[in-house]
Amino acid sequence: MAIRQLGHSYAPYSHFHVGAALLAQNGEIYTGCNIENAAYTPTICAERTAFFKAVSAGTREFRAICIVGGKDGVPTEYTPPCGVCRQVMMEFCRPEEFQIILAVSRDQYEVFSLKELLPLGFGPGNLA
Ligand code: THU
Repeated sequence: MAIRQLGHSYAPYSHFHVGAALLAQNGEIYTGCNIENAAYTPTICAERTAFFKAVSAGTREFRAICIVGGKDGVPTEYTPPCGVCRQVMMEFCRPEEFQIILAVSRDQYEVFSLKELLPLGFGPGNLA
């Protein structure tokens, strides 16, 4: 599903297409792609598109996200989530359990925990 999202990516400026598929605890999968903007800063990443679709649909518990990306929509290496997206994951996911699947194809991928990609992350617990 993440690979299919590459086809929806709107990236006329960077030409770097990203697709994501976010698996919720309830089994639902929310997809996302990056959506760029002529003013640049309003651009949103594929991962946050998926998270915001899910949260705005009432879902707040997640198991895993798969991310693919590449120049002109052709994945050749892993596309790790940017720092802002990692922080959004930190808001809704348990860092030790949430899995981030970086993929190039259906059978070439690697799995990381959020804790590995965002050690010592600042989350809701820090404000409790
Ligand atoms: N991008 C994502 O969608 N996710 C990432 O994890 C990294 C970057 C997008 C943002 C922008 O549209 C393009 O990739 C190049 O930075």
